[in-house]
Amino acid sequence: MESLLDRLTQLASEAFSAENLDPAFGRVQVSDRPDLAPFQCNGALAAAKAAKTNPRQIGEAVAARLRQSGAFADITVAGPGFLNLTPTDEVLHKAIADLVADPAFGAWQRPAPEKMILDYGGPNVAKPLHVGHLRAAIIGEALKRLSRQVGDEVLGDIHLGDWGLQMGQLITQVALESPDLPYFDAAFTGPYPTESPVTVDDLARLYPIASAACKEDEARLADAQAATAELQRGRPGYRALWQHFVDVSKEALRRDYGELGVTFDLWKGEADVQDRIGPLVEQLTAQGIVVESDGAQVIEVARPDDKKELPPLMMIKSNGSVGYGSTDVATIEERMEEFGAERIVYVVDQRQAQHFEQVFRAADKAGLLAEDQLEHAGFGTMNGKDGRPFKTRDGGVLRLRDLIDMVIDKATARIEEGNFGSSYAVEERAEIARKVGIAALKFADLSNPRTTDYVFDLDRFVAFEGKTGPYLLYAAVRIRSVLARADAPPADAPIRISEPAERDLILTLARYTEAVEAAYSRRMPHILCDHAFGLAQAFSRFYTACRIGDEARDDVRASRLRLSQVTLDQLSHVLDILGIDVPPRM
Ligand code: ARG
Repeated sequence: MESLLDRLTQLASEAFSAENLDPAFGRVQVSDRPDLAPFQCNGALAAAKAAKTNPRQIGEAVAARLRQSGAFADITVAGPGFLNLTPTDEVLHKAIADLVADPAFGAWQRPAPEKMILDYGGPNVAKPLHVGHLRAAIIGEALKRLSRQVGDEVLGDIHLGDWGLQMGQLITQVALESPDLPYFDAAFTGPYPTESPVTVDDLARLYPIASAACKEDEARLADAQAATAELQRGRPGYRALWQHFVDVSKEALRRDYGELGVTFDLWKGEADVQDRIGPLVEQLTAQGIVVESDGAQVIEVARPDDKKELPPLMMIKSNGSVGYGSTDVATIEERMEEFGAERIVYVVDQRQAQHFEQVFRAADKAGLLAEDQLEHAGFGTMNGKDGRPFKTRDGGVLRLRDLIDMVIDKATARIEEGNFGSSYAVEERAEIARKVGIAALKFADLSNPRTTDYVFDLDRFVAFEGKTGPYLLYAAVRIRSVLARADAPPADAPIRISEPAERDLILTLARYTEAVEAAYSRRMPHILCDHAFGLAQAFSRFYTACRIGDEARDDVRASRLRLSQVTLDQLSHVLDILGIDVPPRM
């Protein structure tokens, strides 16, 4: 679909061209002075520099040509040739008709789609999901839906942390508590029990003990490291026990992610590439890319012009075990070979930026994906009101499960206070509260620029006023009820502007194309949150200023009902990209 902005840019480019100037100067943008005009074009200044003439003159000449196009109700030239552009209502009528006819309600489509892997899970087997994983899940899910929407072929991978030191720590901890289990008997020839000796709650209890012990006691740490290396070398008992850890963890993870509406196409983990690392290192050693350093095998990634020193990427540690860096490099190879990945985007805490810089450079050097095909879409932390990473009241790491319960409880209380759906059945009200709670949490997270930190403020998140998830759900449900109360308008009834609020709503709807493009190319879902909020507000002003279902004039009523319908369609579309579920009623 050609967006309104594309159409206006097209006209302005033709005008610059006709003045023998580069058409690229005709780029039209949404005005930063909407009180003057909805659009502006600032190309005259740069065009004048290039042509060494007077910008004001160019501005006037281009304006004169644009006036002839008949597409503008008003054009003014400001300062050094800035053009303020107001399209005619006829142009807006055409724009809204195109938008209604578009199955994506104006969302931008990528001309040349790519095969992309999104890596946005990263939970660690044995450690319960905590708030740190919340942002990866929520942002990653939104980026997955967004990329699919614009046309990319996308696979979401959870990339479980199932191969590091924490596995050795757990194995040694279980061995201490239950030394008689067959997993620890080197003479045992199997088969090992099919039933897991531990539950996910056991793991949650065992891991902190093991990790604390390793911090305090060097001998414990050495044991855990040795167990990790043995596991990686394939000791059968350790592998069997490890498989139980992975299986019970996956089950719990599916439940928690499911509650958030987050799904993965691939449930792979670091361990899946263990067989690749040896051959890869061998091949890269032969090519001189992997080199020896203090008994370890590394890839040098520093460059002379680096501002900060970048340490080499560890491929194989001196004790023979592999780590986070080597699994990430080998996973790139796997994703290329198995899925034809042309791009990998990692939605991981910003604090891992150095790790990804090392991995990307190493992958590039190794002839896997080039650096510009690898992206770290890092995110800031969710902080408590004290400005530090969010913790429970007693200072512990908050489990995601408990956080979700907290938000849903709060949403339930709000719904009771607001007397929403007081006549509905208990189950429906509980379902509404669940959706409101999850929407509150997700929208609060997504509406902050990905890269910034934000403060967890439950009261604000679940408020029905302001830029919140509940406000948007309410806006969508309200439009739906306006439509439900009226007779459906004829499907071909044209949308025609009769009030300024309708013009504003159409202009807002028309901006969806560029919002989707910007959110996609910058991997910034908050741009879509801004759009959704702006749209809900524009509808609200329209709703206040205009009669809709009870408008007496048939053609005006039909036009307004169809405008309401396309607003609902686009709002639902963008909320769906954000991964936010709208209840049927509230
Ligand atoms: N498991 C890691 C962590 O909790 C995150 C993994 C992110 N993905 C990746 N490919 N490195 O820190």
